[in-house]
Order: sequence, then C-alpha cells, then structure tokens
Amino acid sequence: MSLIRPTRRLAADPEGLAEAGRLLRTGRLVAFPTETVYGLGADATDGQAVAAIYEAKGRPSFNPLIAHLAEPDAARALGRFDAAADALARAFWPGPLTLVVPVAAGAGVSELARAGLDTVGLRVPDHPVARAILTAAGRPIAAPSANRSGHVSPTCAAHVLADLDGRIDAVVDGGPTAVGVESTIIACLGGHPVLLRPGGIARAAAEAVIDRPLAAASGGATIAPGMLASHYAPKAMIRLDARDVLPGEALLAFGPDVPEGAGLVLNLSPSGNLAEAAANLFGHLRRLDAAGAGRIAVMPIPAQGLGEAIRDRLTRAAAPRS
Ligand code: TXA
Ligand code: MG
Repeated sequence: MSLIRPTRRLAADPEGLAEAGRLLRTGRLVAFPTETVYGLGADATDGQAVAAIYEAKGRPSFNPLIAHLAEPDAARALGRFDAAADALARAFWPGPLTLVVPVAAGAGVSELARAGLDTVGLRVPDHPVARAILTAAGRPIAAPSANRSGHVSPTCAAHVLADLDGRIDAVVDGGPTAVGVESTIIACLGGHPVLLRPGGIARAAAEAVIDRPLAAASGGATIAPGMLASHYAPKAMIRLDARDVLPGEALLAFGPDVPEGAGLVLNLSPSGNLAEAAANLFGHLRRLDAAGAGRIAVMPIPAQGLGEAIRDRLTRAAAPRS
C-alpha cells in the first residue's frame, strides 16, 4: 500500500458510513470521530492494515493499539475479564474507558495491533458515528488518535486533514468531539487494577465502581507509550501553572480571572468548567501553534475530575523534547 494517496472526505450519512465500513473491510485506513478524539481506524485482524497505521502516523515504533468494538458483548468476547474489568465495563461501556485485559484465545486481534503482548486494549466508544462505522466494518478496528506521531490528538476532521491528508484513505466528518481528551486506560490483569492513562472517565468515578483506589503505573513495566514524556506536544514551549504572563508569551487561560499582558489569549473555559476545558484543550493548542506562539503560559487547572487528564496532557506537552 503506497503512503501517498488521495484522502476522501466522507459525510456522516448512511452512504458515508457504509463506505467507511467497506473501506475498513478491505484493509484501508479511515479516520472517524469518537466521543474522545478522532481515531485512525484499520482492521485490527489484518496485520498489513495495522502496519499501514504506523506508516501513516510516522510512528517510529510499534506500540499496542486499542481495538474498538460497536457493542460491549463483542468487546468482552476478545478478552478475559476479572471482576474489576467486568464492573468497569458494565459501568462505563459504551464510553471513554479502555480496558487492558488478557487476550482471549482466538480473539483474532493481530500480533502487531497488540505489539506482541498477550494483553489487548478494548474500547466501546459512545459516539453514533463511530458505532455505525464499527457495525458496518463488522470486526475489531484498531484506532490510535488520528494525528502524526508526537502531535496533539485531533478533535475535528480539519485537525485530521492537517496532519494526515494524502496519507490515509478517508476521513468521516462527524463534527467536533465532545470529550476532547483520550479515553482513560485501566489495566485489569488479575491483581490490583492499574491506571495506565488518565482520560475521559474521572479516576474517582472508576474507583467508586471497583470500590478501591486505582494503582499507579510503575515506570519500568509501563507499556502505554502515551505515558512517555513529550507525547502530546505542540510546537511551542509551555509553562504550566502560570499566574502571570511573561513578555512574549501567549496565554492559555482557565476561568474568569485572566491576568493581563498576553498578546494572544485563548480561554479553555471562561466559567472554569473542566468538561468544557477538556473539549477545547487540543484545539486551542493547535490554534496557538498555528498563530505562531513560541511560548505559552498555561493558567493553573485543578486536578479533580477531568482536570487530571488535562494536567497530564499539558505536563507531557511541557516536557523537554527528545
Ligand atoms: O480515546 C482514545 O483512547 C483514542 C480514541 C481514538 O479511541 N485512542 C487513543 O489511542 O488514544 P492511542 O493509540 O493514541 O493511545 C492508546 C494507548 C497507547 O498509549 C497504548 O500504549 C495503550 O493505549 N495500549 C493499547 N493496548 C495496550 C495494551 N495491551 N497494554 C498496554 N497499553 C496498551
Ligand atoms: Mg495518541
């Protein structure tokens, strides 16, 4: 499959959704919206199709990808669920939760999609367009975020095209995504459930369901590369927890009390609403990049609820680039 190809824009109407399903069934790459961010989909059972994802994203190494399913039962059939995984799936699927569980015998998810691991990341997105495409495809669909490797995740079709136009077969335009940060990833591998990545489901909500605190991922054993420093990087340098603006900085604000002095200000949520801030996060970072902001001061964001995922992505964006 050649790297350069015309990228079709498909509408989120019955024809577009059926065509997206047909393309996925024939090993093509199709970006589509989920409730979190846009994903770059390929047939998870087809190693060549999965390899094309890495090529299109320019991802240097093979990381495990999340397999997306239209229905909770279809997802459950691919893994072995312990009591915690079972409770979490019941509580949050469909929704912005990825469960990493031991892969079931005969699951069919390619070795490459699992990066050779004997575990599998499973997710049932809560988005009508995603679920219609997954139903039309009729098989597990591997879908990392639909951005070039190292860029921030796309929250609208224009972001996808800015990164991947000419490198993928199609993008289905389903409008802006509602959650705006990626799914929460929890590994349930028999022992204590581990939070691999904070995301669209708040830690406290997941902990309430399993009735105990989530363990922190330990560095060495961590196999979620989204946890690497500088993974969600815009071009600009980022200064976190800023209460003022230094000369030459643009400001990524949060809440009503915005310090003076920035030439360019984008507010994640003027009312201080964390869900609104999450939905705006990646789009605002892209707009600041596009405006040529060299340095961005980011106002303090509280760590509760979705704030944990927002702070996690901003901390990575601020990390030194390797
Ligand atoms: O919200 C989301 O999760 C989006 C949308 C498109 O569904 N997808 C997404 O995929 O963020 P990606 O590839 O950008 O991030 C998936 C993360 C990676 O850090 C990967 O290492 C981890 O999930 N992951 C997947 N399978 C895993 C496994 N078996 N074990 C450990 N980590 C896994
Ligand atoms: Mg990603």
